[in-house]
Amino acid sequence: MKIIMLGAPGAGKGTQAKKIAAKYGIPHISTGDIFRANIKNGTELGLKAKSYMDAGGLVPDEITIGMLLDRIHQADCENGYVLDGFPRTIPQAESLTEALKKNGESIDFAVNVDVPDENIISRMSGRRACLNCGATYHIVYNAPKKEGVCDACGQELVLREDDKPKTVKKRLDVYHDQTQPLIDYYKKEGVLAEVDGTKDMEEVFQNIAAILGA
Ligand code: AP5
Ligand code: ZN
Repeated sequence: MKIIMLGAPGAGKGTQAKKIAAKYGIPHISTGDIFRANIKNGTELGLKAKSYMDAGGLVPDEITIGMLLDRIHQADCENGYVLDGFPRTIPQAESLTEALKKNGESIDFAVNVDVPDENIISRMSGRRACLNCGATYHIVYNAPKKEGVCDACGQELVLREDDKPKTVKKRLDVYHDQTQPLIDYYKKEGVLAEVDGTKDMEEVFQNIAAILGA
């Protein structure tokens, strides 16, 4: 099954994508996580991506599209995948559609996790991320067992540089301008599914699982 998660920054795409990946036994592919891992490891790709990310903008399509297409052609993607944070622009969506078409494939579901802007700022300011393993927490809604420490790997949790309120505002502007049009794109493709992302995490997941089927 090939699934795309759509939604504003902080809507809960990553939270739900991890649950979907675990339930269906398919890889969770987050372009944000790939960029952050490259920044942490000081790669050339990481150096290129960092300035755009810290400013709340998008990494250019020329960098992002090739990276994602390489990733989905790896062996572990044979039975599908859940994409989190890609596509984020119409050219990215068109490149993905074209690349899949070459193999007679297409996306099965584009799940839009809908959360109004008012809720986003508080979610982001409470998020704590593990830059070592990619796990995410929330100080109120999904607290780690020990404050400031990742349950999964024991490393320190941090407030992401781009989760500071001023940058969140910029990310929301970029979302409305460049990413929201993808909702219509996937509606026209006939694969759009909408879920109310303001419910608690488990309820959102049950609603998504009902759409995806057993
Ligand atoms: P990326 O890492 O993809 O960031 P994002 O899309 O802005 O998404 P987030 O990770 O911020 O949020 P999320 O929706 O996954 O929410 P989460 O589950 O963590 O991208 C970062 C940057 O990389 C971009 O700004 C861009 O620069 C670059 N980039 C990435 N992909 C790109 C692309 N394709 N093209 C160009 N540039 C790209 O949840 C948020 C918080 O809320 C957490 O604390 C969570 O615990 C909590 N929460 C989740 N669900 C609920 C709930 N139901 N109730 C209460 N709290 C909840
Ligand atoms: Zn961790």
